[in-house]
Amino acid sequence: MTKTTAVVVRYTLGALAGIGALLLRDALTPFFGENNPYHTAWLAVVFSAWYCGVGPAITSVAIVSVGIWYWFVPPFHSFAAKGDSGLSGLLGFLVFSAVIIAFGESTRRSFSNREKADGDLRKAREELEQRVKERTAALEQRTAEVVEKATLLDLANDGIFIKTAPGKISYWNRGAERLYGWTAGEAIGKAASELLQTRFPAPHEQIERLETWQGELSHLTRDGRRITVASRWTMLRDEQGNPSGWMEINTDITDRKSAEEAARRLSGRILTLQDDERRRIARELHDSLGQYLAALKMRLDMLALSKEEPQLISDAIGIVEQCIKETRTISHLLHPPLLDEAGFGSAARWYVEGFSQRSGIKVSLFLPPAPRRLPREVEIALFRVLQEGLTNVHRHSASTSVEIRVSLSNEQVQMEIQDYGQGISPSTLALLLDGGIRASVGVAGMRERARELGGSLQIKSAPTGTLVTLILPLTDSAEKYTILKNDIARS
Ligand SMILES: Nc1ncnc2c1ncn2[C@@H]1O[C@H](COP(=O)(O)OP(=O)(O)O)[C@@H](O)[C@H]1O
Ligand SMILES: [Mg+2]
Repeated sequence: MTKTTAVVVRYTLGALAGIGALLLRDALTPFFGENNPYHTAWLAVVFSAWYCGVGPAITSVAIVSVGIWYWFVPPFHSFAAKGDSGLSGLLGFLVFSAVIIAFGESTRRSFSNREKADGDLRKAREELEQRVKERTAALEQRTAEVVEKATLLDLANDGIFIKTAPGKISYWNRGAERLYGWTAGEAIGKAASELLQTRFPAPHEQIERLETWQGELSHLTRDGRRITVASRWTMLRDEQGNPSGWMEINTDITDRKSAEEAARRLSGRILTLQDDERRRIARELHDSLGQYLAALKMRLDMLALSKEEPQLISDAIGIVEQCIKETRTISHLLHPPLLDEAGFGSAARWYVEGFSQRSGIKVSLFLPPAPRRLPREVEIALFRVLQEGLTNVHRHSASTSVEIRVSLSNEQVQMEIQDYGQGISPSTLALLLDGGIRASVGVAGMRERARELGGSLQIKSAPTGTLVTLILPLTDSAEKYTILKNDIARS
């Protein structure tokens, strides 16, 4: 119902109440006679003041007053003056009606105010209920998400845990339970590095300053095993952006590490065996085959004195001399006796000279001014790397010259082999960088020798040439720690 219709209805009701009161008064005349004309009028006033409001009530009072004045106050059926009693009756009616209307209106107002307040209250409650419903749904959704994520983390094979800023564990997944043997209940609240007795490759505080870090850590499991893990750290931040902790994801690589270690030991052993074998074959060639050939040449020389078949004999002598020379060369290349007798410097000089003659490449060799004898395995490593390095220059670089610089200090010996050839292609270098089994034998062998002795081998290559740098430590302690990085980088 629109506002206007409601007003019209209220006024109509007020008017009808007035008219109704008049008709009822008329009908009651046989009982009331001509006295008390206003009896039924009160009903109309009360009704319209209560239900219809001030305006309709006044309308009702007006209709009733005029009607009663005309019909029921003597002289009847006339608007003429009705004497003092008529006038005072009308005035009394009007005054009381005014009181009734005022009272009715105030009651009506407080009534409608209460209704309005009730309505507001109801609306507020409904809104509140709706909001609570929405919030609950959102909360349930969020909880479901978190549970789902946590379940996913539990499915992961890795040990995943979260540390708050002082290093205390606040989350510990199933993978971590399997990896370390500690249950979430036991681990949560403990300091991670104490629980796992972590051994760090760099100072702990240094790592914790980084946004992300990855590397290898050594951890202790609940049953006292030391394991190696590949660890990835991610710094967590709170809403203000301040560091609030770290997420650590750890993968067990203990088996892989020990397999690698075994492979490394094996290849080191193979290299040593190879050196021994070469030395043995070199000696056999020299001592056995070489001696027979020398004896044969002596006989041929004597035969030459008899002057029979001179051409044939001199040919045979020529061939035997060639055999003796070749055998010596092969023997010496396999293992130069100079290396054992006079040391790396002399052996290098001898080797470089022969290499230069055979390849036509100009070699400049810079040795330390006052060379001294180095440990045997260091001298062998230097010589083998020199051999492989120069062979590579000859076979792959197309360089016409090469420089070799050897420098010596109390702590280490360093050898650089620099050529000015075409360099190593990026794809090949990447393979060499990879350092896996796909890497070719020569470079892999050089690196292995360096690693065996706790040293390093670097290769820098550009289209203008290649630089191979070998560094071997000479201190005792260095020999014991053979785990040093070999870097190969393309400059
Ligand atoms: N001095 C060099 N100049 C250019 N390329 C080189 C040089 N040394 C090595 N290489 C490249 O690196 C590869 C690996 O060398 P290496 O391990 O000694 O194996 P190999 O000599 O048997 O091929 C070579 O095949 C070659 O392509
Ligand atoms: Mg090679």
